[in-house]
Amino acid sequence: MQMHSDAQIGQCWKDFADVVSAGISRVLLYGPPGTGKTYAALHFGSSSSMAERLVCTEDLTTGEITGTWMPTGEGSWSWHEGPAIRAWKDNGGLGGRLVVDEVDRASGDALSTLLAVTDSMESARWRNPENGEWVSPGPEFSVIMTTNVEDLAAIPPALRDRFAVAIRIDRPHRDALELLSEDLRHAALASSIAEGPRRLSLRSFYAFDQLRLRLGPDRAARIIFGDDRAESVLDALRIRALE
Ligand SMILES: Nc1ncnc2c1ncn2[C@@H]1O[C@H](COP(=O)(O)OP(=O)(O)OP(=O)(O)O)[C@@H](O)[C@H]1O
Ligand SMILES: [Mg+2]
Repeated sequence: MQMHSDAQIGQCWKDFADVVSAGISRVLLYGPPGTGKTYAALHFGSSSSMAERLVCTEDLTTGEITGTWMPTGEGSWSWHEGPAIRAWKDNGGLGGRLVVDEVDRASGDALSTLLAVTDSMESARWRNPENGEWVSPGPEFSVIMTTNVEDLAAIPPALRDRFAVAIRIDRPHRDALELLSEDLRHAALASSIAEGPRRLSLRSFYAFDQLRLRLGPDRAARIIFGDDRAESVLDALRIRALE
């Protein structure tokens, strides 16, 4: 059977590619875990330089976003630029990619700072405390935010408002499926698009693929998918093998 019909590739991934290539520079990717949102945000549609990444937690500080003073060990302090400002300036000033993961968890000062660094090109400005220079994002600066929340009302409204495009990623990218042994791909796709408790993340299939080499499929399935689910996963693989 042809592995990748259009439906299997997924409209969501096509939408993301088209939106990014049309030059939209603020995109929110949301949906179930393990589908490749962070991977795509880090690797797709940004220029040659490495993307900068921030993971939001309740403890995230402004210093971790824009930069902080660090002791040099000789009684003095030096300024260390944070990932957001580095992304503004990447690619020789043109601007690079900033990835903000788990964005629903942003709060307090970190949220205010995120609002500032993701603001429109015209409004975003930040003053370097070391030399007093004003910095603005380069013209190619882009931000991709990711979250597992299904209800976008859980995202702070001012932050949400900066991201006109929100795409629900409902299935793994085909490149991620292709990292699995061929006999697992069909079951991994079907399980990862299932709704509710029947859903299994792609990550569990990566682990199964590895563990079965050492422990055999039955034991690996029981350890990874649990007693309740192991048999149904193994059945699906057996049926697939017959086909
Ligand atoms: N296009 C891809 N090519 C290769 N590997 C991929 C691709 N997409 C995802 N992966 C792999 O799949 C796994 C899950 O991807 P990722 O961490 O991006 O998921 P996620 O949607 O951000 O999950 P979460 O919502 O839990 O943060 C990772 O091991 C990642 O390296
Ligand atoms: Mg992620």
